[in-house]
Amino acid sequence: MSITITRCEARAIRDSRGKPTVEVSLACAGHTVSAAVPSGKSTGSKEALEKRDKDGIGVADAVVAVNDVIAPKIIGKKADSLAIDRLLIDLDGTDNKSVLGANAVLGVSIATAKLIAAADGIFLWKYIADTAKTTPSLPKLYMNVINGGAHADFRLPFQEYIVVPNDETISKAYARARAIMDNVGKELKKKDGAVTMGDEGGYSLRLDTLDEPFDILTDSIAQAGGGAFIAIDAAATELHRGGAYELLGSRYSAMSLSLAYKELIEKFNLRSIEDPFEETDTKAFEAFYADVGDAVLVVGDDLTVTNPGIVAEMAERRAANAVIIKPNQIGTLLEVYDAVSIAKNAGWQIIVSHRSGETMDPFIADLAVGLGAFGIKAGAPTQPERVVKYERLLAIENEHGIIH
Ligand code: PGA
Ligand code: ZN
Repeated sequence: MSITITRCEARAIRDSRGKPTVEVSLACAGHTVSAAVPSGKSTGSKEALEKRDKDGIGVADAVVAVNDVIAPKIIGKKADSLAIDRLLIDLDGTDNKSVLGANAVLGVSIATAKLIAAADGIFLWKYIADTAKTTPSLPKLYMNVINGGAHADFRLPFQEYIVVPNDETISKAYARARAIMDNVGKELKKKDGAVTMGDEGGYSLRLDTLDEPFDILTDSIAQAGGGAFIAIDAAATELHRGGAYELLGSRYSAMSLSLAYKELIEKFNLRSIEDPFEETDTKAFEAFYADVGDAVLVVGDDLTVTNPGIVAEMAERRAANAVIIKPNQIGTLLEVYDAVSIAKNAGWQIIVSHRSGETMDPFIADLAVGLGAFGIKAGAPTQPERVVKYERLLAIENEHGIIH
């Protein structure tokens, strides 16, 4: 069906940290949709630019970019997801969306995909799969239950301690992940000291050894009947100071950090490590992947920033075997699909991710299913902005039939 865009309007809303972010509404005859853009804190330096006002907080300039620059170009145009994305890329004209802002551009890109799916009466995940030429499937849940690093009051060695149930269905995996998280809560209550909530809804507290969070997760998984592995996001760009990595007050070279990871892999069921080294230390990624890549997912995030060119380079260099996909790191779905296609052709796994500053938009659930992603990172179900992603995955599974 040919759909003409009749309205395009942005406004500022608040994200899960209470910070302003962009929401875009798009309409055609008979349908209105909206898309909200998340915001990161431990960002990669090569991510596309998130447009903020002079105060570094507001998004009034990004709202103006949508309403005054993008809207006049797309109102009256046929809603064709890839064509609109191409128009947005050309209208911005920079490599990193620094003219319009990736937050302005992404809101329009996602809203366009939603509008077509709504007007054509097809599921969003199906529309995504048709456009990206991927095979839909249900992702594994990467639930971040202990938060450290830039996302928490307590600077635990790593930013995210994640449990990943092996269950085939979302409903079983979600139940298991929540049971494991409850067990973690009970374990933490036995310890001295305050427990707070991190930005992604997991527990945060002071822990004094590298092993301690893994001991807690291992026990908590066992108490839930097993059936899950452990993943971490080391977010090592944030650990890197003055040429070395700082963990719990000790300094590590890339080599000694690799050995520390290997010990953790041997001792615990740790099967997926995101950003084990800082974003420019490609050599350390290459050596680590060559060493452990058969048994462990070595995942790029700050390393790859959902950028098709960088993903291609890292695949060529064999620096990783999995990639985090965050649409706001690049700005359009067209570029997301390119990055995914390059990664898949290299045999990499795809893990679709939220940001630490999230909104009530469940879009990444449809994206993960549509792209046939291996995993989805959506945080802990203690914040509504995280829960809506899980609820959407359950809805896809329950209402639309189980897709494996
Ligand atoms: P961010 O963190 O959203 O704050 O960038 C998430 C991550 O590093 O994966
Ligand atoms: Zn990360």
